[in-house]
Amino acid sequence: MGAALGLPRVHLRRTDSTNDRAREFALTGAPHGTLVTAAAQSAGRGRQGRHWSAPPGSSLLMSLVLRWPASDRSPTLLPLVAAVAVCDAVGPDARIKWPNDILLGDGKLAGILVEGRPQQGWAVLGIGVNVAVRTEELPAPLRALAATLGQGRETIEPFLAELLAALTRRLEEPRDRVLDAWRERDALRGREIAWAGGRGSADGVDAEGHLLVELPDGAQIALAAGEVHLESYNL
Ligand code: BTN
Repeated sequence: MGAALGLPRVHLRRTDSTNDRAREFALTGAPHGTLVTAAAQSAGRGRQGRHWSAPPGSSLLMSLVLRWPASDRSPTLLPLVAAVAVCDAVGPDARIKWPNDILLGDGKLAGILVEGRPQQGWAVLGIGVNVAVRTEELPAPLRALAATLGQGRETIEPFLAELLAALTRRLEEPRDRVLDAWRERDALRGREIAWAGGRGSADGVDAEGHLLVELPDGAQIALAAGEVHLESYNL
């Protein structure tokens, strides 16, 4: 994944989902690093079928086409690598709720959605960051859950430049270094969590990015992001 990120770039005033546009570009051969940004999305998507809501012009809404050689393993840690890069761009107060929700204080500042065709050597990395969102403009149910950098709209582009630089660095780094950086930002470690299959105490991530959980009986299990939805957690 060596080449620069962010070129070519397409910026749209409005689209359904930047991930959908980037996916179309990927399917027609767009190179590694192709970037789609938008000022507004009508059908922004989150993980596990959720909607991603952002008042027009207030957020960084971006999707990158990433490719890797057929000889390489697919980058299974990509969602975690991206989370670390977003934290780098945000600053020391950003934390990660496994696998890749970015928190500031108790609120969600940014979300990451990785889609694509790993077997064919490409993925779309979608990221939404509340750079200039005023939380009172969000739908009522989200207001108490969201965080914002609270900056002016003119800072969205400089933030994008920081984030692309951070992503470039982190994608080149050895897995262990990125995982260590992820662990330093871990918002859940030592916290009680619950999911459909049980409850326990979050105990960091393993080398594959699975969430380690200590069960009430003292046993440890590893949860995979695609299979588990955390129902509750105490920050
Ligand atoms: C999540 O937290 O569940 C992931 C949210 C990802 C949102 C971003 S916004 C840009 C890109 N386009 C989308 O439709 N989703 C991602």
